[in-house]
Amino acid sequence: MTSSHGLEGRAAVVTGGTRGIGRAVAGTLAAAGALVCVTARDPDEVRRTAAELDGIGLAGDVAGPGHPEELTDLALREFGRLDVLVNNAATNQPYGPLMEAGPDAWREAFAVNVEAPLRLVQCAWRGWMREHGGSVVNVCTEGAGHVGPHVGAYGTTKAALLHLTRQLAGELAPRVRVNSVSPGLVRTEMARFVWEPGEAEVAAGLPLGRIGEPQDVARAVVWLASDAAGWITGADLLVDGGTRVRAARATAGNPVHDRLREHGPAPR
Ligand SMILES: NC(=O)c1ccc[n+]([C@@H]2O[C@H](COP(=O)([O-])OP(=O)(O)OC[C@H]3O[C@@H](n4cnc5c(N)ncnc54)[C@H](OP(=O)(O)O)[C@@H]3O)[C@@H](O)[C@H]2O)c1
Repeated sequence: MTSSHGLEGRAAVVTGGTRGIGRAVAGTLAAAGALVCVTARDPDEVRRTAAELDGIGLAGDVAGPGHPEELTDLALREFGRLDVLVNNAATNQPYGPLMEAGPDAWREAFAVNVEAPLRLVQCAWRGWMREHGGSVVNVCTEGAGHVGPHVGAYGTTKAALLHLTRQLAGELAPRVRVNSVSPGLVRTEMARFVWEPGEAEVAAGLPLGRIGEPQDVARAVVWLASDAAGWITGADLLVDGGTRVRAARATAGNPVHDRLREHGPAPR
């Protein structure tokens, strides 16, 4: 971003801030002058990232007992404020048909992808935002809008996170804005198994002709978190290279698209 949009001197917590989209968000916030606190499970990565950003970090699982409280307490203690919360960490497990999704993995998916974001918002609200205001951005997925093979558990948690975003936006206004960003396919570790084997083919199918880079998503997240989006709450911003609109390029093998392309309506 060329302007800090009011982020200078503000304090932000970014979950999953050590790589991929979260790392890009943390870096963009820091570049805008924000004080940044990151969390992730790998302590070495947390230390490295905190040092790179001149910020702070706490290693741990966002769904671990007491982690949301410890994380927000740390930010409040070190920075004296907590203006921005980015709920970015997520798991794409269990992966496979829903009929094979065991109870432990299913509960873990909801614990990391839905419950932890809520707990963190509750802690941020109680510790700072209820009195001073703030902004929350949840990272969802473009895929939450439709059905796909093997991603039933992930998609269900992200659809829940989308609704959580809207519900919180209603409940926490006017003090706190709560929005989400829904990325399409982005070049990160989590999605490597999707993009690496056939990137050129995947990119060719996208209206904007390339898969996403973490920075594409980070810019949108940071913009939504900033005062530039001061009259936006309960919104979901698609950052997907046109994935959602690609049906406008009639897809081969889809019988409905074949009819639309080849026949059109009868003249009236
Ligand atoms: N990449 C895509 O194509 C894509 C598309 C749509 C949506 N998204 C969403 O974007 C967000 C970021 O994904 P990404 O692709 O950037 O993933 P990534 O590259 O795998 O990075 C995930 C980050 O989250 C941390 N993390 C994972 N599980 C955690 C947990 N339980 N507790 C704390 N930290 C945890 C990881 O560090 P540790 O492993 O050290 O914990 C890492 O810092 C996710 O919400 C994902 O669902 C991604």
